[in-house]
Amino acid sequence: MVKIAPSLLAADFSCLAEEVRKVEEAGAAWLHFDVMDGHFVPNLTMGPQVVQSLRKKSRLFFDVHLMIENPEHFLEAFANAGADLLTVSAEACTHLHRVVQTIHQLGIKAGVALNPATPLSCLEYLLDEVDLILLMSVNPGFGGQKFIPSTLAKLRQLKEMVGNRQIEIEVDGGINSDTAPLVLEAGATVLVAGTAVFAQEDTVQAIKLLQTEKKMV
Ligand code: DX5
Ligand code: ZN
Repeated sequence: MVKIAPSLLAADFSCLAEEVRKVEEAGAAWLHFDVMDGHFVPNLTMGPQVVQSLRKKSRLFFDVHLMIENPEHFLEAFANAGADLLTVSAEACTHLHRVVQTIHQLGIKAGVALNPATPLSCLEYLLDEVDLILLMSVNPGFGGQKFIPSTLAKLRQLKEMVGNRQIEIEVDGGINSDTAPLVLEAGATVLVAGTAVFAQEDTVQAIKLLQTEKKMV
């Protein structure tokens, strides 16, 4: 079944532990941390301390999405804080292959994210090295943006490139009950959702809606 990764960015920061408990009980499999540095993206969010504090409160798989320049400087800190997977932005890494290797040497999984305008070809020689590929379906920096439709064609192509390799295909940005069935159909295996989970009254229902492959009419 598809994995839902609620993005903490849309949670109430005054009670993060409570927000995490809510999505864990509601059936989320992963928890998505959006780390932003004010350079790679025009926004600032959280650092390893937040990951470390929540690690003590949750058994969810911690999916840490680094939207930062020079991510190599922070890999160890996030791994020590309790990340299960670190995803770096391809556009922020001159030595992407080395960064992926370093993440694996830290004993955790490695992902690579691509911005909407970045072609899939930059992954060609990395396919046997990565555990996850994240396609951004909005321009990174903010929650609550509208899904970019060209992501669907990109996803289909990626699914073909991946073939039968054990690589998770994650989609991030503008995922809701309308777009979730489309990206699932196109090959996504992990859906990140901020607004569509944390801004809803009924968390259980919100997660269930995103797991539905076909919209019921
Ligand atoms: C955007 C982040 C996303 C974002 C998703 O830069 O990477 O994870 O929080 O938020 P929604 O689901 O609200 O589009
Ligand atoms: Zn994200």
